[in-house]
Amino acid sequence: MAKTNKPDAGKSNDDPKTKARRGSDSKTAQLKPGIAEMKTKQLQVNALAAAMPFNATKPSEYGFVNALVPPQGDHAQAASAVTTASTLSQSNTSAKTGTQARSGHNAAIDSLDRVRVDSSERHLTTNQGVKISDNQNSLKLGLRGPALLEDFVLREKLTHFDHERIPERIVHARGSGAHGYFECLNAITGLTRAAPFQEVGKVTPVFARFSTVAGERGSKDTARDVRGFAVKFYTDEGNWDLVGNNMPVFFIQDAMKFPDLVHAVKPEPHHGMPQAASAHDTFWDFVSLMPESTHMLMWVMSDRAIPRSLATMEGFGVHSFRFVNAAGASVFVKFHWKPKFGTVSLVWDEAVKISGADPDFHRRDLWERIETGAYPEWELGIQVITEEQADTLSFDILDSTKLVPEELIPVQIIGRMVLNRNPDNFFAETEQVAFCTAHVVPGIDFSNDPLLAGRIHSYVDTQITRLGGPNFHEIPINSPLAQVHNNQRDGMHRQATVRGQVAYEPNSLGGGCPFQAGADQGFTTVAARLNSREEQAKVRGKPGRFAEHYAQAALFYESQSPVEQAHIAAAFRFELSKVTVPAIRERMVSSLRNASESLAQEVADGLGMKHLPEPMPRALAQHVEPEILVSPSLSLTARPGRTVRGSRIALLVADGVKALPVSQLQQLLASKGAMARVIAPRVGSVTADDGKTEIAVDASMEGEPGFLFDAVVLPQGDAAIDILMDDPNVLDFVKNIYRHGKTIVAFSGQHRLLEQAGVSPSLPDASADPGIVIVPNDPKKAFGKIEQAIARHTHPERELARLS
Ligand code: HEM
Repeated sequence: MAKTNKPDAGKSNDDPKTKARRGSDSKTAQLKPGIAEMKTKQLQVNALAAAMPFNATKPSEYGFVNALVPPQGDHAQAASAVTTASTLSQSNTSAKTGTQARSGHNAAIDSLDRVRVDSSERHLTTNQGVKISDNQNSLKLGLRGPALLEDFVLREKLTHFDHERIPERIVHARGSGAHGYFECLNAITGLTRAAPFQEVGKVTPVFARFSTVAGERGSKDTARDVRGFAVKFYTDEGNWDLVGNNMPVFFIQDAMKFPDLVHAVKPEPHHGMPQAASAHDTFWDFVSLMPESTHMLMWVMSDRAIPRSLATMEGFGVHSFRFVNAAGASVFVKFHWKPKFGTVSLVWDEAVKISGADPDFHRRDLWERIETGAYPEWELGIQVITEEQADTLSFDILDSTKLVPEELIPVQIIGRMVLNRNPDNFFAETEQVAFCTAHVVPGIDFSNDPLLAGRIHSYVDTQITRLGGPNFHEIPINSPLAQVHNNQRDGMHRQATVRGQVAYEPNSLGGGCPFQAGADQGFTTVAARLNSREEQAKVRGKPGRFAEHYAQAALFYESQSPVEQAHIAAAFRFELSKVTVPAIRERMVSSLRNASESLAQEVADGLGMKHLPEPMPRALAQHVEPEILVSPSLSLTARPGRTVRGSRIALLVADGVKALPVSQLQQLLASKGAMARVIAPRVGSVTADDGKTEIAVDASMEGEPGFLFDAVVLPQGDAAIDILMDDPNVLDFVKNIYRHGKTIVAFSGQHRLLEQAGVSPSLPDASADPGIVIVPNDPKKAFGKIEQAIARHTHPERELARLS
């Protein structure tokens, strides 16, 4: 075909190939309509019905023993595809598209491919596929006349626009997601029959969404908050959602209190403030009356609540779940995600400043890491706890305010997750994804954690409103790779076109299909959990061991490094100083006394309290002896960042800079997966010291201030340094990097700029500051040293020196 400039040349919307791709059923009909054919179908239907003269599995519905082992459902085979078809001409049987995961191929993307739209070289059309001739003007009676009601093009466009927004999530509204895969590193068939863990090397596609909890959809990323860590595994046996957080415990013990907790932390209802912040009266009023939240408060006031990156935080399933093996034997399990890039957090001053300069800091970081190939990666670990072990613990593992210390029950690594693909469309994927704790697959079951019970109900319930009806499981990002066959029908936005006349079970007209899978293949609930761990009476209450509220709050605090402890005290001080009611401040400090006298004293001092209030009376009078008093794995220092991969490094330049070190560093850092950005007082370019070479500038210091970077490299070249030394933005840039504990690289003999910014290369005790790297003029020679300093991310020695 001759080339032409016409936009749709050769690719018109009427292209028969395109049509065929979109068509629902282009196969030839099996039987042509006709009286004889109808008769044949009737005979086949009767034969099928006759094959099931009675409900053979009925007796198995009764009795305790039968209840433990449901049988496979009775079913019969139809004579031909037409027997169970809706019409004589229907030829397609019900094989749903979708393939099993195989290595190197993310099959979960296929369901998205079916609905992908590529408008390149296409005409604009209406939603009915009619080409639009003019997208600039509404239809009017004369050029100056009134617009006409018959303008269906305008009305369709406005109507669709008017309905573009859907309700945001009631919690976790602000989030960012990515596709990836889970790889089994350790088959655990003895523990569970869950599909992803059956074979070493088995790959299961995943979609992960990370979120803050309290803020609205457009709120800042770096608020002090818990982070949601939700992963949807598209397994061969249906979707499994591990909907966790970046902290292993929770505020409350019973789902009954969840709406109260959320109402308390969300903006106060009378004036709608504050946004994305727990530092206000109602939150602290509630939690100070709920001593079981003290452990979680320690986590939320710690640096865990302000991660540097979504890729540098741990994830936890929080609740105890159950693994069930093929023989039906079960154990308790706790899930842990361990980040390959280490656990790295921000400091509060940094988080506050970032939220102003880049409210999308975490979303951008996740996006950039994936686009640049520095794929976020976690190991999946499990703690396995038998029923007998659980009984011997000083706390109840059904209590979500408690963790199982890794020193007591080690974490075994069973797989890894790599996020390697950004969503193509934020709304279609990240916004419409619907996670739910009720989405489990054979081999995974619930414990009796009463918080988990509420969650099993809550997610689907809210999603019916958020996603507009009961069929959101058909939205491509939510639809499983495993086939879906049931007798659920209709409802808003239904897409499945189910063949045949049958929508009930038992049936004989559909040959008994779809039939129940039975215990061998279907999901079964572990019966033992009803027998062995629960009282028989219907009660509203909690087990006695839930009443101990402070031992693990103390455990967490005592396990932190001095710098981390100082940050916790500062966070309590900041948050409580925003509380306007002194009685609430006092109540909280009185509660803290039960976890740590020294922390309570420090917070009280910070709040200007003259006297410590009495310790809060405990719900449990007798002392419970914890198994351990310190758990080193609870400190962020247990898994420090050890790589520059994914880091952002600022290379400061100005006119007169030496060009070679800039390009050398850009290349060296890129080769290690770090992103070097050239930063100057203004965007555009700067002229190097040879008067000729132009160096392109990526961003200005106003646009990307120092606190958005993990490290800064000061320039080489006297003229450039002279320019920068006079610029207050430059001095702020360097001061912030220093204050936030990060790496500064300067060339030897060229560190005047450091002095001007008040930065000393040594610590107060005269030892060298490991985060200030002075390198010779050839950065290649010193790159190892530079890389090592940046890979540490932060240099707590600097703050420690200030504290002591
Ligand atoms: C009874 C307690 C809880 C209830 C009733 C509850 C309820 C909810 C609801 C209604 C949503 C919004 C879901 C949506 O619109 O798609 C949500 C989101 C979420 N919840 Fe919970 N939640 C509870 C406790 C927890 C706990 C303990 C965790 C962590 C283990 C958690 C983690 C999450 C996460 C990660 C999301 C966001 C999922 C996403 O990215 O779409 N929730 N929760």
